[in-house]
Amino acid sequence: MDKLIVHGGATLRGSINISGSKNASLPILAASLLTAEPCIIRRVPDVSDTNYMIQILSAMGADVERSSGTVRITCADISDVAPYELVRRMRASICVMGPLLARKGRAVVSLPGGCVIGDRPVDLHLRGLEALGAKVEFEGGNIILTARDGLRGAEIDLCGTHGPTVLGTDNVMMAATLAEGITVIESAAAEPEVIDLADFLNAMGAKITGAGTRRIVIEGVRELRGVEHTVIPDRIEAGTFMAAAALAGDEVKLRRVCREHLKAITAAIEQSGHRVEFNEAGNTCTVFRGETFHGVDLVTAPYPGYPTDMQAQMTALLATTPGISVIKDTIFPQRFMHCAELKRMGADIKIDHGTAVVRGVAQLSAAPVMASDLRASAALVLAALTAKGDTEISRLYHIDRGYEHIDEKLLMLGAEVERVKD
Ligand code: EPZ
Repeated sequence: MDKLIVHGGATLRGSINISGSKNASLPILAASLLTAEPCIIRRVPDVSDTNYMIQILSAMGADVERSSGTVRITCADISDVAPYELVRRMRASICVMGPLLARKGRAVVSLPGGCVIGDRPVDLHLRGLEALGAKVEFEGGNIILTARDGLRGAEIDLCGTHGPTVLGTDNVMMAATLAEGITVIESAAAEPEVIDLADFLNAMGAKITGAGTRRIVIEGVRELRGVEHTVIPDRIEAGTFMAAAALAGDEVKLRRVCREHLKAITAAIEQSGHRVEFNEAGNTCTVFRGETFHGVDLVTAPYPGYPTDMQAQMTALLATTPGISVIKDTIFPQRFMHCAELKRMGADIKIDHGTAVVRGVAQLSAAPVMASDLRASAALVLAALTAKGDTEISRLYHIDRGYEHIDEKLLMLGAEVERVKD
């Protein structure tokens, strides 16, 4: 297993390109199951999560070619069973369930494992697919969905105890594209990645309106066709590098971003004392480290609120921001694994029932720390950038799940990082 050695103290400056969105790519790759025609998807990041999805689709019979960021995928002759061992290793692969059921009338998909950020139920996914007419059974760790007479449109409310579900909205939206009649999804997730999936589906010939709002309407069609699509920029990767620039920058420019998707993240970075400037087109932003800093109170919320996927990274920034910051994660109340490791580096953080109270310290100190999940590992890299000494971050595979060439991008900005074999 690789680990990353970060020599703290380097000042970040220069510019990098932000990759295509991992969380848009995954459901869009799964949506190719809805047609037997070739789909060409551009700017798919080369990260292990997208590689897993491609492996799963290939194992189901898809013909996949990948050259740099472009994936050409043809799901002509597809099995209705997703490979158990692969699916259980990546929770997001649950989003093959909806398109597979719609295309084949049957879908066998492993129950996703939980993960360190919290229990990852799929009750809302199943509520939606059952409403469309699927029969749901469980056997040997698999979910078995059948709809031998096809799917029929329905009115579905997908609100759960923690609000909307992103992949649940994706699954139901994809299944509804081939259902007979009209489907209305109330309490839908409105993330940009859901909008990108809806754009992909409409280009395939689907009839979806309202994506990006809490009410999505899908009029079923008989079949969908192959399409070409370019995935939106990864707003969480962009936010992660914005936090890096605020922590260790001088001045860092990020190209290939989308200002609209970064509003909540930009507001938090600026509220803590730093400056963010976008170009006219809103596709490039420059972050300037500030001179006076302030603690920030953050509550994560479904889009357009502050994203839970940027909670750990902001905690790392606030760990050395003078003042008190209170961070509440309403989406994943247990998502504070990074705090124990940050405390090992000298951070002053107290956790209480889904809330972290952070008292900024002058500087963190290097320590051997362990990544526990994708965004927690990004937070540890950020913290190490200004920590005194060399921080060793083990289990780097967590970060490779969702950040394309993060060490190369940090090196381009002047960070002193080194990937070593464990
Ligand atoms: C997506 O996961 C993202 N993953 C996550 O990003 C992100 O943290 C999450 O949305 C929230 O924004 C991808 O897009 C691949 P949810 P998803 O269903 O769709 C509860 C990353 O770091 N819930 O929106 O699986 C759930 O427990 C990853 O890139 C139910 O109760 O998350 C949570 O509390 C991590 N029942 C809340 O809803 C369900 O059936 C939101 O989860 C489904 C979810």
